[in-house]
Amino acid sequence: MNFAIVGCGFIAKKHAKAINNIENAKLVAVCDKFETAMIPYMEEYGVKGYTELSDMLSDDLIDVVCICTPSGLHAPIAEQVAAAKKHIILEKPIAMTMEETNRIIDVTKKNDVKLAVVHPNRFRPVVLELRKILDSGALGKISHANCVVNWNRDQEYYDQAPWRGTKEHDGGVLMNQAIHNLDLLLWFMGNPKEVYSMEATRLREIEAEDVSTGVIQFESGALATVQASTTVYPKNYEESITIFGEKGTVKIGGANALYIEHLQIEGYTEREVNILKEKVSSDPWGTPGHEQIIANMVESINENKQPAITGQDGKKALELVLAFYKSAEKNQPILLNEGVTI
Ligand SMILES: NC(=O)c1ccc[n+]([C@@H]2O[C@H](COP(=O)([O-])OP(=O)(O)OC[C@H]3O[C@@H](n4cnc5c(N)ncnc54)[C@H](O)[C@@H]3O)[C@@H](O)[C@H]2O)c1
Repeated sequence: MNFAIVGCGFIAKKHAKAINNIENAKLVAVCDKFETAMIPYMEEYGVKGYTELSDMLSDDLIDVVCICTPSGLHAPIAEQVAAAKKHIILEKPIAMTMEETNRIIDVTKKNDVKLAVVHPNRFRPVVLELRKILDSGALGKISHANCVVNWNRDQEYYDQAPWRGTKEHDGGVLMNQAIHNLDLLLWFMGNPKEVYSMEATRLREIEAEDVSTGVIQFESGALATVQASTTVYPKNYEESITIFGEKGTVKIGGANALYIEHLQIEGYTEREVNILKEKVSSDPWGTPGHEQIIANMVESINENKQPAITGQDGKKALELVLAFYKSAEKNQPILLNEGVTI
């Protein structure tokens, strides 16, 4: 399966490395509007480089394109790639608006190409263990959850490129950083029904928010708090999700939600809990998420099935972020109903 990348910046490195680590996948071309950005990729991987996406897309050998451009360009680029009948791996967030997202989903359907959205944290060993615990019903009825991303992105990070921290092309901590944890929260807790949030831009000179706090009520009736920031001194402090059920509590956490910080469940012995904690911490990253996403795309194409993380998954995470933004802007609770455009 021949892969290409558009947008040769920071995250493209992970895609290129992941592609070449997967059997049956090969990087054959890269594209960036700046030649200087793609030269290191052309040299390291011995691939063709294009400054015009349409030129790269005319190469019939390319099966899949990884879209790694600034978030505000995901929609127009995905439309162009789908129209050229190439499958798509699209970096998060899927897009910046629901309207753009619906366009992406429609155009991929119309052109019969696969669409996978990059929410790689779903493949982390600790996340898969928590998913298994929830599926087993061991926690009983879930009452509530806490979702926390207290990280650091300093001013230098935002000043790297003009798109960073803008509302049009990036968004703030919710859209860029916390969306990964929000995607996990949705995966664990189901569909949200209502949100209420406040946000602020406290310490960074950016247009979007660097701090956000909010609450969610899920369709199940369970509640959750969300706390996200990029202002923590001096480095990433915490990324965690805690789920409280009638028969137990599980917290996955650490600076990057990689470990079991707390686990107490009815019927679980201390020995079982320790074995589980050690199993996770012996290999906290597991196979890198980007590799799993590339491998899953190859499998999805070969077996003609949906990728593990679909456009609909990307849409749900985006919808939650946009509901938080709308709530903060209007200073009122927002109902998330199927079909309501945010
Ligand atoms: N999944 C993750 O963990 C993760 C991590 C970081 C970034 N991301 C996402 O990846 C995307 C890119 O982020 P980044 O940090 O790599 O950004 P970046 O600024 O480092 O790289 C973006 C690249 O896209 C190029 N580009 C811009 N417009 C283009 C166009 N029209 N055609 C071709 N190339 C174009 C730029 O020149 C640049 O080289 C964002 O959507 C971001 O949210 C995801």
